[in-house]
Amino acid sequence: MDFHIQLLVLPLLFHTLLISSSTTTDILSQGSSLSVKRATTDVLVSRNSIFSAGFILVGENAFSFAVWFRISSDPTIIWMANRDQPVNGRDSKLSLTKTGNLVLLDAGRVVLWSTGTSNMSAVKLQLEDTGNLVLRTSELGKSFTLWESFESPTDTLLPQQKLTMDTNLVSSKSQTNYSTGYYKLFWNDDNILSLLFQGPDRQISSVYWPIPWLETFKSGRSSYNNSKTALLNLTGVFLSSDGLSFLATDYGVELYRRLTLDPDGNLRLYSFDMKSRMWVVTWQAFPQPCNIHGICGPNSFCTYDRNFGGRCSCLQGFKMRNYQDWFYGCEPEVKWNNSNETDGFVRVANAEFYGYDRGYFRNQTLNQCEEVCLSIQVCKGFQFKFDGSVYNCFPKSQLLNGHRESSFSGDVYIRVPKVKLSFYEKPNVKETELGCHLESVMLTRAYKNPPENATLKVLVWVSVGLAAVEFVCVTIVQCFLNLSRNGKVDKKAQGYMLAATSFQEFTFAELRKATWGFREEIGSGAGAVVYKGVLSDGRVAAIKRLREANQGNVEFLAEVSTIGRLNHMHLIETWGYCAEGKHRLLVYEYMEHGSLADNLSSKALDWEKRFAIAMGTSKGLAYLHEECLEWVLHCDVKPQNILLDSNYNPKVADFGLSKIQNRGEAHNSSFSRIRGTRGYMAPEWVYNLPITSKVDVYSYGIVALELITGRKPTGAQIVSDGRETTENAGRLVTWVKEKMNGASTTEAWIEEIADPIMEGNFERAKMKLLVKVALQCAEEVKEARPTMRKVVEMLECHEDEHAFFFN
Ligand SMILES: *[C@@H]1O[C@H](CO)[C@@H](O)[C@H](O)[C@H]1NC(C)=O
Ligand SMILES: *[C@@H]1O[C@H](CO)[C@@H](O)[C@H](O)[C@H]1NC(C)=O
Ligand SMILES: *[C@@H]1O[C@H](CO)[C@@H](O)[C@H](O)[C@H]1NC(C)=O
Ligand SMILES: *[C@@H]1O[C@H](CO)[C@@H](O)[C@H](O)[C@H]1NC(C)=O
Ligand SMILES: *[C@@H]1O[C@H](CO)[C@@H](O)[C@H](O)[C@H]1NC(C)=O
Ligand SMILES: *[C@@H]1O[C@H](CO)[C@@H](O)[C@H](O)[C@H]1NC(C)=O
Ligand SMILES: *[C@@H]1O[C@H](CO)[C@@H](O)[C@H](O)[C@H]1NC(C)=O
Ligand SMILES: *[C@@H]1O[C@H](CO)[C@@H](O)[C@H](O)[C@H]1NC(C)=O
Ligand SMILES: *[C@@H]1O[C@H](CO)[C@@H](O)[C@H](O)[C@H]1NC(C)=O
Ligand SMILES: *[C@@H]1O[C@H](CO)[C@@H](O)[C@H](O)[C@H]1NC(C)=O
Ligand SMILES: *[C@@H]1O[C@H](CO)[C@@H](O)[C@H](O)[C@H]1NC(C)=O
Repeated sequence: MDFHIQLLVLPLLFHTLLISSSTTTDILSQGSSLSVKRATTDVLVSRNSIFSAGFILVGENAFSFAVWFRISSDPTIIWMANRDQPVNGRDSKLSLTKTGNLVLLDAGRVVLWSTGTSNMSAVKLQLEDTGNLVLRTSELGKSFTLWESFESPTDTLLPQQKLTMDTNLVSSKSQTNYSTGYYKLFWNDDNILSLLFQGPDRQISSVYWPIPWLETFKSGRSSYNNSKTALLNLTGVFLSSDGLSFLATDYGVELYRRLTLDPDGNLRLYSFDMKSRMWVVTWQAFPQPCNIHGICGPNSFCTYDRNFGGRCSCLQGFKMRNYQDWFYGCEPEVKWNNSNETDGFVRVANAEFYGYDRGYFRNQTLNQCEEVCLSIQVCKGFQFKFDGSVYNCFPKSQLLNGHRESSFSGDVYIRVPKVKLSFYEKPNVKETELGCHLESVMLTRAYKNPPENATLKVLVWVSVGLAAVEFVCVTIVQCFLNLSRNGKVDKKAQGYMLAATSFQEFTFAELRKATWGFREEIGSGAGAVVYKGVLSDGRVAAIKRLREANQGNVEFLAEVSTIGRLNHMHLIETWGYCAEGKHRLLVYEYMEHGSLADNLSSKALDWEKRFAIAMGTSKGLAYLHEECLEWVLHCDVKPQNILLDSNYNPKVADFGLSKIQNRGEAHNSSFSRIRGTRGYMAPEWVYNLPITSKVDVYSYGIVALELITGRKPTGAQIVSDGRETTENAGRLVTWVKEKMNGASTTEAWIEEIADPIMEGNFERAKMKLLVKVALQCAEEVKEARPTMRKVVEMLECHEDEHAFFFN
């Protein structure tokens, strides 16, 4: 884990020699610089070895100068000089000039950022033990500060760093894109520490914390102290001049802590758990992510589930405006102009939109409210809510901050053209899309139980309850909406906690014992051998031992932590890992029926099972591509990697071992080594084109054709250099197409291509659909292939129609 740091003044020749001696420094002296070319070695390290400052890769050939915690497996960035303007990977540097100015030079020339100091001697830049990067001069015999990073925070506040009237926190765009995001923590003109949402097109902006409809004092705040300062201390106590105060659930102990405004608009206090080497959440402003404004954008709903966190979904008949980013919300699939004569309304039960009311109309009938909305040109719909005695009507000019929960009592009516009512009224709003920026899944996983000590517990809860608005908010919402929590939810949550904690680190000895000395081999691939084993708690596991790791520990842990976070019924569950010395192992659940490849030629796989396998696999892959926190390419989708449980439910295996991709880099990324298996590899690999999620879509298409025809695309063989042709994969596609075109009658081809082992027992409509989808997936040109999410929709859509037809 050690980074090798050295003084830059040393000649380059010594550079390599000295690397092993690992000289580190916390100071950059006048006239020297840190270069992006040597980003791994040109790093300042604080004396306590907790923080580093240097260049960090934020995109392809793009670097930002940052300060980060170096204690976690992947760097936790706490400050950035140039979050919106990364520098080029060639010749860029951070220089402390002879005149005492600290400048960030892009490609050696353009000044992107500077501290603006000049005309100073005896200046040095120091990374202090607190994480503060300080520019000081001792020119006049006395040392004084010229500039410090603590005075210009980005999205994180550290203990001992004051949040003052001149400073605010601004979230990052996403977990992987550090540029300026949509949420801001700032002091408002009334001396209140507030959270603001400012939408992507800057048209929408609203304060959502403290809860806007509460009076200030009811939120536990006071606007009469205009000193505007807030401070978090090492023991986990946060105090603000507006009366806000809260405690970390583990307060009282000196730990590494940080208060971060996360990309999802939630303000969270984290502390570092030395044992798991992970950040755990010890306080957050919103337990319920759907109460954060803007989270799903306009014309959409946020729904919250204790198990899965927040999800966004478009209104029926609407589609996402920007498929990378939920903040852009949804737009109608077919645009229309409002007209008071031809418009009608669709009801959406148990829902509400916050804000953008065009008035408030008390004691209205539904018809009256519809008329009110129709008479307002800009009215997009209305909220219709019973207040205990009468129904009230709230026409809306924007459908924003939508939120659905089965326990809500109010209904929303959306204005749509009457002739299309039946289209917009389709039974249920699909909630397929899981908002990637809603981080609850990860957070719940990281959540730590409050201290066991009951006295302490009471203290914590009382103080938090008094101070933090979240609880006031929940109470108010509960009264307001008569929300009731039942025991079922709690039980589920408990189950989740169990699941969450089951991801663990194993020792090598434990795993050796579990596998009886790595005896029973159940599979092997290019980089690993898989053994069957029984863990000490009796669970049967598949234990994957990676071949001699050329991968560093840090890299491995980073990937493992991602894999551990992935959680889907159609992905193989990862129970844990082992990283000891040169040993790298992963522990998975064991699948009784082995892989799809093992069973494809067996009669047990009838048509229904085959279709279910195609369906489940697409869902698993879609989750990998879109729904999880980080974007994961599988890169080796093939029947050997689709495992079957005792009910022949498919679970995708072997994911997450390919390089984990930055979402932002999705369009342009390169892999150093080609992965994949001949027969299933997309043409991009061969022609050296950018690798995107569409490579998995291609492989999926081939697997689907194999499910239909029972034919292998080729004798499966692993290629290491990738300089193989995809002709073989093409052959199965061509064969199917030829059969389709050459058939004597329009439908005869189905019988011809269907796996003879099924003996004609299959549903033609479904078969046709799967062939169609598979061929689309296996298109040569990646743009012509659908996304995995689209595949799921196409297959699911048929399921619906089918039900409709035959019931
Ligand atoms: C800065 O430069 C000006 C003119 O060059 C000089 O008069 C002044 O003393 C300098 N200040 C310091 C602090 O060196
Ligand atoms: C943190 O603040 C609390 C309350 O003001 C105080 O009791 C505690 O001593 C402080 N801890 C440190 C390390 O400053
Ligand atoms: C205002 O808040 C600051 C910081 O919390 C505190 O030191 C100061 O005493 C407060 N002033 C008044 C008048 O309450
Ligand atoms: C909506 O109105 C605009 C101008 O008022 C017009 O240009 C457009 O064609 C109309 N669209 C439809 C679908 O009627
Ligand atoms: C519909 O709108 C037009 C123009 O805004 C108005 O003249 C007419 O009275 C409205 N009709 C109804 C039924 O509200
Ligand atoms: C609501 O309106 C109806 C009809 O306009 C009226 O009879 C009733 O008294 C009203 N109820 C209240 C509580 O104002
Ligand atoms: C719980 O914590 C309080 C305060 O820190 C302490 O006085 C008490 O002895 C603790 N109780 C137990 C059972 O550990
Ligand atoms: C509202 O609360 C009351 C009493 O707290 C309860 O009897 C009633 O069932 C609740 N209604 C809903 C819709 O939850
Ligand atoms: C499926 O494959 C597994 C592993 O090879 C084998 O044990 C099992 O019997 C196969 N199932 C059928 C129905 O052939
Ligand atoms: C981050 O997001 C911004 C704005 O959407 C975009 O311009 C930039 O390219 C992204 N950066 C990366 C590294 O993806
Ligand atoms: C992708 O990378 C290639 C070279 O690696 C470059 O020429 C091209 O402009 C990049 N495309 C995008 C969209 O960044």
